[in-house]
Amino acid sequence: MTQPELKPLVARRPAAPLAGSLSVPGDKSISHRALMIGALAVGETRIAGLLEGEDVLRTAAAMQALGAEVTRHSATVWCVAGRGVGGLAEPADVLDMGNSGTAARLLTGIVASHPFFTVLTGDASLRARPMRRVIEPLAACGARFATREGGRLPMAVQGARDALPLEYRLPVASAQVKSAVLLCGLNAPGFTRVEEPAATRDHSENMLRHFGAEVSVESLGAGRAITLRGQPHLRAADVMVPGDASSAAFPVVAALLVPGSRLRIEGVGLNPLRTGLFATLREMGATLTVENERSEGGEAVGDLVVAHAALRGVDVPPDRAPRMIDEYPVLAVAAACASGITRMRGLHELRVKESDRLAATAALLAANGVRVEIDGDDLLVHGTGQPPAGGAVVETHMDHRLAMSALVLGLVTDQPVGVDDASFIDTSFPGFVALMNAALGGAAPALTAP
Ligand code: S3P
Repeated sequence: MTQPELKPLVARRPAAPLAGSLSVPGDKSISHRALMIGALAVGETRIAGLLEGEDVLRTAAAMQALGAEVTRHSATVWCVAGRGVGGLAEPADVLDMGNSGTAARLLTGIVASHPFFTVLTGDASLRARPMRRVIEPLAACGARFATREGGRLPMAVQGARDALPLEYRLPVASAQVKSAVLLCGLNAPGFTRVEEPAATRDHSENMLRHFGAEVSVESLGAGRAITLRGQPHLRAADVMVPGDASSAAFPVVAALLVPGSRLRIEGVGLNPLRTGLFATLREMGATLTVENERSEGGEAVGDLVVAHAALRGVDVPPDRAPRMIDEYPVLAVAAACASGITRMRGLHELRVKESDRLAATAALLAANGVRVEIDGDDLLVHGTGQPPAGGAVVETHMDHRLAMSALVLGLVTDQPVGVDDASFIDTSFPGFVALMNAALGGAAPALTAP
């Protein structure tokens, strides 16, 4: 078997700061959901601004394999002719979800309440990630599951013939598990109810409503209870996908760290359950302003304006984690250049991301001369107020966010920072290297092949 080719990359101090305006690709979470819910609606859904990254393209192919008609109209504009709730058909082959945990878990929810057989698999990173967290709640609808040891993919699903509605309290705050339960409940009679211990991104709830479903939300202490009326008639609806706040995080932190930078990032999704990084950076001393705030398809959107600033270390509380779960690696990079200690608390969920992000983020920093500790589920970064030495080649473990975080660090370190493989960046942020080099604008690109 041939191994996929590694794509090493190096970042070095740029000749010029980040300047001007840019926009980042569409939100990954919203893109997956638009394709999936569009496939469950009657009529043709037009999606503008779809993220054309590997993860989302896997979802597009899967919905096509399940009987929806998915077509690319023009750059980032896609159409989905849906089959209606309960109307999907048995796929003729295994669904390969690549690197995407969101695609695998949400799709498992959908197929669990369809009376046919599905097999899901993924790349080596996804095949190492836990699926029991969705199997456990979904089995109560009547679906049956068979997996490899430890609840890992590949997984076979025999969907329920007459699915029962679900009632489930999430043991961990996970938008993926919540969404899998809700999507399963779409094709069951009665009400499906899911309680989350802390509020997590609510894109599924917003989009289900946008397509005509009845979804109600009650506060439950720090968490929420979400109730969905099953077997709704979903109607095709146009979707405008905002820029991904989790992708904007990289140019934002780069602009904060590289002296003289001033950058505007247009049309970024600012759902309050996604903006924990921006709140934390403000606490660290960043001036980060939002202009043109508006609402599009039930989601907050705005333009972010950020300029270089000296940052100081802060204590990041554990209840911030659901609102910035994917941003800890790049926050750790910012913390490495801040003055004082940053303690990021309650990061147990980072251990089950595309890689063990807690260990890998600590290793990324340590290899580049940063003093860093893992204390239980907390990550402590000792910033000196100066950029660290750099000079390492970081192991990225098939994890796009580790690769981008390391490259942002390399823009300020004394020595360049390399990554062993930048190819996974395309899962969430196609065009990252060109976009960063263009924003840096200098004569010689800062991000290059070694
Ligand atoms: C996502 C939820 C989060 C996040 C992932 C996208 C989603 O995962 O890390 O990148 O789109 O629902 P968890 O739900 O496992 O925290």
